[in-house]
Amino acid sequence: MSRIQLGTYADRNGVLHGESVDLREIADRFGTPTYVYSAGAIREAIAGYRKGLGTVPHRICYSVKANPCQAILRIMAREGVGADLTSVGEMKAALHAGIPAEQMVFSGVGKRRDEIEAGIEAGILMFNLESPAELECVDEIAQRLGKRAGIAVRINPNINPQTHPKISTGLSKNKFGIPTDQAIDLYRRAQHMPGVEIRGIACHIGSSLIDSGPLLEACTLMLGLRKRLIDDGIPIPYLDLGGGLGIQYHKEVPDSPQRYGERLRERLGDFDGTLILEPGRSLVGNAGVLLSTVLYRKVNGERTFVILDAGMNDLIRPAMYGAEHEILPLRADEGPTEVVDVVGPICETSDTFVSQGELPRLEPGDRVAILSAGAYGMAMASQYNGRPRPAEVLIEGNRFRLVRKRESIEDLWRLDIEEE
Ligand code: LLP
Repeated sequence: MSRIQLGTYADRNGVLHGESVDLREIADRFGTPTYVYSAGAIREAIAGYRKGLGTVPHRICYSVKANPCQAILRIMAREGVGADLTSVGEMKAALHAGIPAEQMVFSGVGKRRDEIEAGIEAGILMFNLESPAELECVDEIAQRLGKRAGIAVRINPNINPQTHPKISTGLSKNKFGIPTDQAIDLYRRAQHMPGVEIRGIACHIGSSLIDSGPLLEACTLMLGLRKRLIDDGIPIPYLDLGGGLGIQYHKEVPDSPQRYGERLRERLGDFDGTLILEPGRSLVGNAGVLLSTVLYRKVNGERTFVILDAGMNDLIRPAMYGAEHEILPLRADEGPTEVVDVVGPICETSDTFVSQGELPRLEPGDRVAILSAGAYGMAMASQYNGRPRPAEVLIEGNRFRLVRKRESIEDLWRLDIEEE
């Protein structure tokens, strides 16, 4: 049975490598669970978008929520990639990594006043507004500061992204964006507000799309809306189509960034503005793996359980979205496979990475890589069950370095205030 190989993670002499690094070396040096990222894979994904989009004027704004590690943000900065933000925390992290404010967009239904103020002061490109009340708030704060805030209205296009309901955002029953018919009116109001400058129109219909059809459908709808606004005398230089492109987790293979870029380019035709994309997962998802060690095997009646030292606190996606991440032993095993449940040590039944999956036989002490874990892995990790968050390591070619320390046990209560 040939093993799945994902981008820069491939076997060499029967051992899984990230670029030219033997992943066992990383596990030995830093222990497990540890997140590992391939800089090359991130750069390839960025280059794919650029190649596909070709001559379409564009700005890629990396969705920081997918993975806010400074080392990754610094790669983005060096590659000229901007940022899609969801909080002032992400803005400060992106600024700290060297991403210029004028390459940042700020989305989210609940921006606080202090966050809006910080965004205006920093000079971000635009706030993607999600309600009429938020427009009033941005205008008022900008006027008070004697500034003009760049804005876009985030449209809720009511398009079904055909993805997991927990990460669908573009349906009218979802909390995100503003319905098309209300948006035109909002732009008219914004036009006369001294504190705002209309810069764009935005949408984001959902995440982890295997079929980019709905993303293209959203593109067409947004182009029509932009034209209507321009015909109404409202200039819209930026068209922001959000993120959403899926990655390979298992057998399903979505469009590559390059293919998606090409399809967008065709769709955009003679588009005369600047396109913004907010990819998160498709830039970093396949670039990351979570290394873990098998602790025990046990048999409960019919079921065989393989128990890992990584749990749902380290990678919550299987528990939260029923996501299936491929698991590979670092050393390929040509022996017979078995049907097992691969689980973590957390006291929750949902702490299951694989349920009744066919895997090579795993023994205590064996090391495995949980693939496609670069996006929404560490970003959603917690200390649940008294577990310090994992270390993070970055690979570049044949070198690797620790980019975030493993949390210590003391970190578990470091911010607690003890009685005198
Ligand atoms: N832009 C906006 C406004 C978003 O809300 C998101 C993701 C993105 C861009 C980036 O989407 P991407 O390219 O990564 O699909 N925790 C979930 C995913 C939540 C996505 C939230 N919004 C998961 O692990 O699948």
